[in-house]
Amino acid sequence: MHTFKRVQEDQTYKETEVLFEQQAQPELQQEQAIPLDVRGKMKRILDIAVLGAGYWGRKVISEYLQLAAINPRVNLAKVCDLTDENLEYCSKVLRLDKEKLDLDYDTLLSSNDVDALHICTPNETHYKFCLAALNAGKHVLLEKPMALSAREAWELVAIAKRKHLCLQVGHIYRFNNALKKVRNLLAENYFGNLYYMKLQWTTLFPSPIDRDIIFDLGPHPVDIVNYLLDRWPIKVCCSGRAYRRKSLAEVAYISMEFDEKLLAHIELSWLQPGKVRELSVIGEKRSATVDCAHQVVRIFDNIDGNNFALDVVPNNTILSEVSHFANSILANNNHRNPGPVGANTVAVLESIKRSMRENKAINVGLKT
Ligand SMILES: NC(=O)c1ccc[n+]([C@@H]2O[C@H](COP(=O)([O-])OP(=O)(O)OC[C@H]3O[C@@H](n4cnc5c(N)ncnc54)[C@H](O)[C@@H]3O)[C@@H](O)[C@H]2O)c1
Repeated sequence: MHTFKRVQEDQTYKETEVLFEQQAQPELQQEQAIPLDVRGKMKRILDIAVLGAGYWGRKVISEYLQLAAINPRVNLAKVCDLTDENLEYCSKVLRLDKEKLDLDYDTLLSSNDVDALHICTPNETHYKFCLAALNAGKHVLLEKPMALSAREAWELVAIAKRKHLCLQVGHIYRFNNALKKVRNLLAENYFGNLYYMKLQWTTLFPSPIDRDIIFDLGPHPVDIVNYLLDRWPIKVCCSGRAYRRKSLAEVAYISMEFDEKLLAHIELSWLQPGKVRELSVIGEKRSATVDCAHQVVRIFDNIDGNNFALDVVPNNTILSEVSHFANSILANNNHRNPGPVGANTVAVLESIKRSMRENKAINVGLKT
């Protein structure tokens, strides 16, 4: 009862769903895309296409439809996928007009009716499709991981910058109200001297062919730590194993060092039953556990021994992310998930894989 009252009294714990966020995050200000209206097009409507209508693409498509229903300046212009079956799903279940559906992505790129592309195709195609889209003058929201090498990721960042196009990455947890709350608490030094973080990202899942868990699931926890701390690790260490197949890790234990004291530990597994997406923040004064999937934050107070849940209202993170993408182009806002964040995340993942391969700690060497 006491802790409930305490939560009620503190209005800073109140969160509302963020749909059309105009709030800038100064630390993430990057090269700005030129807004639609001044690119010579004088268009009032932003025409967005989704490339890839598989598991993730279908979710993304339905959020663009929802966004278009509430924001008259946004239109889901096209959806492209390789298979008739996926396009059929878009037509029958998502009720998209047949003329919006395409099997050939070249037509998206050459179409003047498409201003921006959300790329939801397999990881190994990200660089190729994003490069083609940027070269065709389209703004891009590219799913994670941004590319399979930091060199490719930085090349995409450079092209977007040169062409004044918006390039964002699908780091969805930057749009999670629970993590936003924890980020604000960290900025206020609410936890006191910060000791370490622990992230458990585990699920029982058939390992995707040709993909290891570090590049597939690893982008989220690595990015969350950067989102919370605004820092990149200086050193990483990783052990990983494949169990159900000969190679390509299905389980990984990662340690990231930020300075002499601060650590972040990440556990990744496709073998552990039960889906867990959990973060622990351990500090001198207080600690927190965060169920990132359900957006539940629990605080453990070392001073009075109380523990209590924060009053966080879970939001629709995909809708927030696609709204932010549209707004970044329409209103030239700052970016919460800009290309350089995606590229540095890939660089950290590369170092993690190198550590696993060479069985030693690796200095990451990024700007923190
Ligand atoms: N942000 C997140 O939380 C999150 C969650 C899941 C997946 N993802 C990312 O989304 C991407 C897609 O993952 P998925 O699970 O939906 O995979 P998926 O295999 O279910 O879907 C990929 C789709 O891309 C299509 N595709 C492939 N090549 C194409 C081409 N040349 N032209 C048109 N379509 C093409 C395929 O037909 C398929 O439908 C991956 O990069 C993944 O990492 C992100």
